[in-house]
Amino acid sequence: MVDPELGDDIVDLGMVGAVEVSDDGDVHVEVALTIAGCPLRSQIERDVRGSLGAIPGVRSVDLSMAQMGAEQRAAVMDRARRKARERAPATAVPPRARVLAVASGKGGVGKSSVTVNLAAALARRGLTVGVLDADIGGFSVPRLLGMEGRLEARDGKMVPLERPVARGVLRVLSMGFLAEEDRAVMWRGLLLNRAVQQFLQDAHWGDLDYLLVDLPPGTGDIQMGLARMLPRTEMLLVTTPPLAAQRVAARAADMARRGYLRVAGVVENMSDFTCEHGTTYALFGSGGGQRLAAELGVPLVGRIPLHPRMAAAGDAGQPVALGGDELAAVFAELARAVADDVAPVVETSGCTARLLDALDAAGAARVGPGQEPAVPAEAAADR
Ligand SMILES: Nc1ncnc2c1ncn2[C@@H]1O[C@H](COP(=O)(O)OP(=O)(O)OP(=O)(O)O)[C@@H](O)[C@H]1O
Ligand SMILES: [Mg+2]
Repeated sequence: MVDPELGDDIVDLGMVGAVEVSDDGDVHVEVALTIAGCPLRSQIERDVRGSLGAIPGVRSVDLSMAQMGAEQRAAVMDRARRKARERAPATAVPPRARVLAVASGKGGVGKSSVTVNLAAALARRGLTVGVLDADIGGFSVPRLLGMEGRLEARDGKMVPLERPVARGVLRVLSMGFLAEEDRAVMWRGLLLNRAVQQFLQDAHWGDLDYLLVDLPPGTGDIQMGLARMLPRTEMLLVTTPPLAAQRVAARAADMARRGYLRVAGVVENMSDFTCEHGTTYALFGSGGGQRLAAELGVPLVGRIPLHPRMAAAGDAGQPVALGGDELAAVFAELARAVADDVAPVVETSGCTARLLDALDAAGAARVGPGQEPAVPAEAAADR
């Protein structure tokens, strides 16, 4: 029997405790849930009763549902994660490279901007940083890094394009580096997921300190495929300050959990805006990143201010992280926090439903009943 949320056998996961069978075929079984209030409880209950009841000779099924303690829950997640690693195929990403995927539940929150700037800031520290543009259909990394060119193949494998940064280097793979015809070939009959698989397996990444993955918005096939191929991936969740954004980011955290990925931390983007007179405005509200991080039990690793130069730098292909101003300092600090503070990463636990309830409660307290949090329509729309 498979846990509907964790997607693994409940016996293997260690969720089944004592089992007693009487001579008459009366079965008593204990099932421990990862958390008590899980809405999937009744489904699990029904499935266990159904499976046992279908066994010939079973007369009755008596089920007691218990709740795991924190330790037991951590052990279950560990086991699930180990199994995922055992199942993972070989990739061309060196084992010592730390893999960080930048994710969010929805579009336009600044995943790609955070990815390229964090990559640049890490490279500035003298590191070799791979950047995998996993937004196959909507790639933006080449433009943001001001890189163009065509991927070449060596021994039948793609060679990432390089951009030196101070003592470090960026190695980048993106659909944007494939000729139109090649892209068409990749598209034809291929799942998006396959393109990412090729970027991970059929590429000369060489020796990397970090691999940063710019994910498309949402929680689809590409995300789950990455989780399957590189289960050691840690997720950095990008959110914007409003409550609605946290709710979608929480969905991305749930996806991480289903793929057994760890959430390394939360980055709040488009935080306060400081005008030229030095006055700071919390245009989209404030504290959202902190609240989400607290709900997930992970650190808030950075707060990136809303700044017109972010967009201008993106258009110019010169990441702000490579400049000398306060925005560069913000990303230098983010790189430092990711490198120094975030490992070892923190476990997330609990179901999304609970998380969303908690966020709802927080939101209700903040905006009051019947009032929607002030979210720009565009930012609130799920892509
Ligand atoms: N801190 C910021 N201040 C101002 N503009 C920003 C900031 N971060 C990102 N932007 C701008 O917001 C837009 C969306 O950013 P970006 O493309 O990085 O988001 P994304 O989450 O990758 O989007 P998508 O979901 O489409 O991939 C871009 O025009 C970018 O320049
Ligand atoms: Mg993007």
